Amino acid sequence: METKELFVPISLESIEPVIFPDVALYIKTGGNYVLYKSNGRDFSSHDHERLTKNGIEFIFVSKNDMDVITGHMEANAERLLKTDVLSSKAKGKMIFQTSINFVDDIFNNPDKSADLGRTRRLIENLMMYLSDNTDAVQSLELVMAHNYHTFVHSLQVASLTLLIHSEEYSLSHSEMLDVGTGAILHDFGKIFVPQEILNKPGRLNEYEVRVLKRHPEEGYEFLRKKNVLSPVSLAIIRLHHERCNGTGYPLGLENLDIPRSAQVTGVADVYCALTTDKNGNKTTPSHIAVQLMREEMKGCFAPHLLNTLEKLVCKEDVQQIIL
Ligand SMILES: [Fe+2]
Repeated sequence: METKELFVPISLESIEPVIFPDVALYIKTGGNYVLYKSNGRDFSSHDHERLTKNGIEFIFVSKNDMDVITGHMEANAERLLKTDVLSSKAKGKMIFQTSINFVDDIFNNPDKSADLGRTRRLIENLMMYLSDNTDAVQSLELVMAHNYHTFVHSLQVASLTLLIHSEEYSLSHSEMLDVGTGAILHDFGKIFVPQEILNKPGRLNEYEVRVLKRHPEEGYEFLRKKNVLSPVSLAIIRLHHERCNGTGYPLGLENLDIPRSAQVTGVADVYCALTTDKNGNKTTPSHIAVQLMREEMKGCFAPHLLNTLEKLVCKEDVQQIIL
């Protein structure tokens, strides 16, 4: 059984002295977390230099302080990613490290879920692979800088998409990477949607819905012209809003006309949207979300994919009922 990490790594290069939130920081030596600075003392440029000189790449914060760190990252992601001060390696590391932190949010009980470890490894492999692909990293940077919520959502969708694939099909390593790349960039087209629409708290009007619904096609067209993504990744970006009963968009495809990986990403997308709000907080419980997808969205998703989703995300609920 996985034990929950009590500390979260933060890439030292992404920490700006003085403006970084005032939380206790730890360093890891010989497998132990040692307090470096307590709450109430600034993290100075001198600290930064000293740690860098000592070859420290990551500093650790308590999991309990992650809300504060997330708020800070959210407020500063755009500026940090657009600055010339950070090397592209540092930006990649920042994305990588931020990514890992959000993976466990897709599970109800990360303490108990053995799948969390698997998902972390899948995402780690994906991010490792992506770090060598400049175009993919830049695309992800654009998403993160434009809208942090979309970035967090994309990570959760990619995690779940990979997990469902690994449970349902036996894909090769490179196929998994293609699927993961497509899933993590599935909403890339949202960089063309104004922030006022993406962040609007209430219901969108007809015009806003039309603009939002352009994102699969716009993302697909833009990235297709770049010529770096595989057909599988591109299909996910273009077709993740298609539904088995033909009610989806942009093409209104049905059943097997929708590529398998796009169907899985669609399932993961809706599940994550139902269970997590814009701030990344858990809203609807897993079993209610699956029930909703099965009954109120009847015909939209392949039943076998909903069964797999249920098995993965409702594991603890099912066990509790049996006990
Ligand atoms: Fe989407």
